[in-house]
Amino acid sequence: MDKIVIYGGKKLNGEVKISGAKNSALPILFATLLTDDKCKIKNVPILADIKTTVDFLNFIGKKTVRKGNIVNCDKSSKLNHIAPYDLVRKMRASVLVMGPLLARLGKVDVSLPGGCSIGARPIDIHLDAFKKMGATIELKEGYIKIFSKGRLTGTDIEFRFASVGATENVLLASVLAKGTTRIINAAKEPEIQDLADVLVKMGAKISGAGTRIITIEGVDKLHGFEHDVIPDRIEAATYMIAALMTKGEIKLTKVNPKHLELVIEKLIEAGADIKIKDDTLTVKWKKEIKPINIKTEVYPGFPTDIQAQWMALMALAKGNSIIEETVFENRFLHVCELQRLGANLKIEGRQVSIHGVKELSGAPVMVSDLRAGAALVLAGLCAKGKTEISRIYHLDRGYEALEKKFRKLGANIKRIK
Ligand code: UD1
Repeated sequence: MDKIVIYGGKKLNGEVKISGAKNSALPILFATLLTDDKCKIKNVPILADIKTTVDFLNFIGKKTVRKGNIVNCDKSSKLNHIAPYDLVRKMRASVLVMGPLLARLGKVDVSLPGGCSIGARPIDIHLDAFKKMGATIELKEGYIKIFSKGRLTGTDIEFRFASVGATENVLLASVLAKGTTRIINAAKEPEIQDLADVLVKMGAKISGAGTRIITIEGVDKLHGFEHDVIPDRIEAATYMIAALMTKGEIKLTKVNPKHLELVIEKLIEAGADIKIKDDTLTVKWKKEIKPINIKTEVYPGFPTDIQAQWMALMALAKGNSIIEETVFENRFLHVCELQRLGANLKIEGRQVSIHGVKELSGAPVMVSDLRAGAALVLAGLCAKGKTEISRIYHLDRGYEALEKKFRKLGANIKRIK
């Protein structure tokens, strides 16, 4: 298995182009199942999860080809309603196939996604919503079998939690439903807005995306589209934190600073010098890192996907800080690995208290999940000596050209086979 080896301690300086958002590209790729027409999606990051999704679409019957950062979907052949275990187990976002297939075919069989390292991650909110829209759900032989007699029916659906995936799935299902659907307590993440923009391009009638209540008036048919995926705010935040941790200066291009307002505010509180101009953002280390507490929350709160990287930053702050995770129940798997690099951390329930140290030192570490991996890379970049990171397939799911981008900024980082 591949490993990443880093010799830390280099200041990172220069320019990095931020890729398209994985979490936007995935639901948009599944949206192509809502039409038989051709679709073209640009600024798609080259990642393992994108490959899995392209394979998935081809399996379902949508002829899809990725070339560089562009994905082209041809006219569909007959769509298949079964999403097998082999595809679903590779990527939890596969559950996003439910909404479009239910809308198009009136039935879908999805292998149960199971838990994952960061928590149980149930899909009850998705399923309750489909039931409210008139679908019947059965669990059989490890599969969730969902079917509806005729079209789904629009209705008011109130989520107990503003789930990103459930908001996307209901959007994908309701655009072709009979009548009006209202999602109450919808997720407001920028990726939801991006998906809604695509669906509107396809002919859907949606208002309120990006707010707590989204209203969807079902239409009979949707058509093809062309779309540019929004920039990846999580990748951007990771490079911003890298600038600060390595005492360098990094200019991010092709970024949307509006999607990062709270992260920018927190980085400035921590001592960063940040300059924003249109779609570029420059982060410069000024002085020692101040300890800043954060609590993860749904957007526009502090993203759970930046919690691990923030912990790596706070491990080097001058003083004590606290991180609270409220979105996932078990998202502290990076704590033990960061401790191996010398971080002084203590888990107390859903909080981690951090006592900043002067420096970290390199060690062999292991990645447990995607963002935990990013935190280890950041820590390795400023740790003294050699850090060897294994199980990096998690990183390949979410960071395009990670070593290449960090190398261009001056890091001593390489992948060994
Ligand atoms: C998406 C993102 C992921 C991010 C997360 C939260 C994608 C592909 N992934 O994941 O990177 O960390 O949003 O911002 O976009 N929950 C339930 N029942 C449900 C659905 C969710 O209990 O039916 C719980 C989950 O277990 C979790 C929390 O809600 O604790 C957040 O999940 P959700 O917002 O659905 O995240 P994902 O869509 O899976």
